[in-house]
Amino acid sequence: MKIIACYSMKGGVGKTASAVNIAYWAAKSGLRTLLIDLDPQGASSFYFRVKSSPQKNWSSRFFKAYSQLLKQIKASDFDQLDIIPAHLSFRHFDLLLQQLSKRQKRLRQALKGLKKEYDLIILDCPPTISKLAENIFYAADLVLVPVIPTTLSERTFDQLTQFFKHESYSRKKLIPFFTMVDARKQLHKQTAISMRKRYKRFLRNAIPFSTDVEKMGKYRAPIDTFAQDKQANKAYLALWQEIQQEIQAQ
Ligand SMILES: Nc1ncnc2c1ncn2[C@@H]1O[C@H](COP(=O)(O)OP(=O)(O)OP(=O)(O)O)[C@@H](O)[C@H]1O
Ligand SMILES: [Mg+2]
Repeated sequence: MKIIACYSMKGGVGKTASAVNIAYWAAKSGLRTLLIDLDPQGASSFYFRVKSSPQKNWSSRFFKAYSQLLKQIKASDFDQLDIIPAHLSFRHFDLLLQQLSKRQKRLRQALKGLKKEYDLIILDCPPTISKLAENIFYAADLVLVPVIPTTLSERTFDQLTQFFKHESYSRKKLIPFFTMVDARKQLHKQTAISMRKRYKRFLRNAIPFSTDVEKMGKYRAPIDTFAQDKQANKAYLALWQEIQQEIQAQ
């Protein structure tokens, strides 16, 4: 079982759109896939039409035993794809982690219990750099980072690599890819060229800026279900195939 995080400390960069489409393609390619929506905003749960548990404050059980996670798993409308939906109480994850022992390893320990049930776990992460983020960096085999090719996003990615270096996380885990790319913009072109020179691990495939990604909110589904022949859909499939190679190379 492999664990992939869709992570950036920057908000609104396409973490959720990517987690949803990658989870969809992973399941379609035959992997038993679990998407965990760690963001209390619950956007990926919304896209998959899955409701969160009525149980109050279940975040307090999240890291304690994998049996608690098993109870929260919901089936999606797609074969081989399950979801653990977000809960508003997930906003307390940081406080909770402060109180636990072996706090950096808690997420990995809880997820390891699911290894018989799933081939791939995808984490849709909130935009934070916190104790939860440290758990994510420790747990994930790959940390996929969507990057919009602009100056500020470049700066944020530099900060993330510095943080990995400083805290001695393996920088090999960090896999950036470009998203919301507008080929007509000179700034996007130049930033992409200069970042690819500096960071060799950038995925070759990029996601274009596309209204078909925005329409996921209207259809509440992965792009392939309503815009099969469109460029954004093909881009996510190609991106997934590249990620699959990264997983296999591990
Ligand atoms: N490739 C794209 N082209 C056009 N719009 C996009 C693209 N990717 C994402 N969006 C839109 O941008 C907004 C933010 O995307 P998304 O929710 O995936 O980002 P996020 O990083 O998960 O945000 P947050 O930090 O709030 O969790 C959404 O309205 C989404 O529809
Ligand atoms: Mg999100």
